[in-house]
Formats: sequence, C-alpha cells, structure tokens
Amino acid sequence: MRTIAVYPGSFDPPTFGHLDIIDRSSRVFSRVIVAVAKNLRKDTMFSAAERMVMLRKLTRSYPNVEVDSFRGLLIEYVRVVEAHVVVRGLRAISDFENEFQMAHMNKKLSPEVDTVFMMTGERYSYISSHIAKEIARFGGKVDDLVPSLVRDRMFRKLGKRKSSMEPRTAGKGAKIR
Ligand code: PNS
Repeated sequence: MRTIAVYPGSFDPPTFGHLDIIDRSSRVFSRVIVAVAKNLRKDTMFSAAERMVMLRKLTRSYPNVEVDSFRGLLIEYVRVVEAHVVVRGLRAISDFENEFQMAHMNKKLSPEVDTVFMMTGERYSYISSHIAKEIARFGGKVDDLVPSLVRDRMFRKLGKRKSSMEPRTAGKGAKIR
C-alpha cells in the first residue's frame, strides 16, 4: 500500500529538528507532504510563502517529499489530499499533552486518519523554532539549530548581518549585542 503522510506545522522557521522528522518520514512513507499552516493565530517571523520557499529548498533532494500549505482544519486538508496519516515529532514530555489532545481531536473528526509520532532525534530534542528565534533576536549563534539558509534569512529579517556573539565577548560585563 502506498501510504501518504502529511507533516503539518508552523515551521516558523524550519529547524534541524523538523528536517530530521522529514528525513525519517521520507524513508517510512511513500509520499510526504510538508504542510505549512497559514492561519496561525500567533505572529510569525516569516510569511507562509517564505516558510514554503525555505522548506522547498531544504527538501529538494527528496523525491517523495513535497511542500504545500493549508488554511483551516488540518484534518480537512488531509482529506482533500487523500493522505492516510499525520506525522508529528515529539521532543519531550512537555509536547505530549498538546499532541495527545490534537491527535484525539483529529481522530474524532476523521476516524480513518491516524497520527504517527516520531521521537525527535536526541541531538535535536532541545531545538524549537521559538528558541531559535529568541536566540537570533539577541544576536546569538543559531548554527546548531537551523540550516544556514534559514539562519541568514532570520538575521536579515532582524536587521542583523550575522551572530554578534563571539566566544570572547562572553566575559564579565561583556555586552552581547
Ligand atoms: O508547528 P506547530 O505550531 O506545533 O503546528 C501546529 C499545527 C499547525 C499542526 C496545528 O495547530 C494545526 O493543525 N492547526 C490547524 C487547525 C486545526 O486543525 N486545529 C485542530 C487541531 S485539534
């Protein structure tokens, strides 16, 4: 059976954690649709179009991965694209409650669709888009959190050319700009 998976999220911005889930999903499912949520209530750093461009560039080498966007209920989108499963990454216990609620709600709305959870790889378990944005905002190094093309776009958005946090500046009284 050809299994189609939807990997939905905000991806604001895409991180190495997201890419780890995409990479592993692409080995398990015949087709993976990375679905960028458009109608987020939260303010985003990047528009949906910008998030999609980044994801397309980052997943170019995967023949069975495509990038799309959706508005409204995720489960409606899953139905339209005739997918079988929703993939979500789980980093820590703290993710669990929200994911548990979402998976059950989606199952209630569409019993034929299952949510499949993948444990985020150990080295990515502390990474989140939120953390990456916070560090970038204060000029910190995000190279271990996001790919370089995302890093450059983040610093451009923030009007910074690159990380201003050099190892030597971290001494007593040093200002981290
Ligand atoms: O990356 P995120 O922010 O954790 O992704 C959350 C997302 C976008 C997958 C979730 O909020 C979602 O599915 N939103 C669409 C609206 C919807 O279907 N809500 C009901 C879920 S129970």
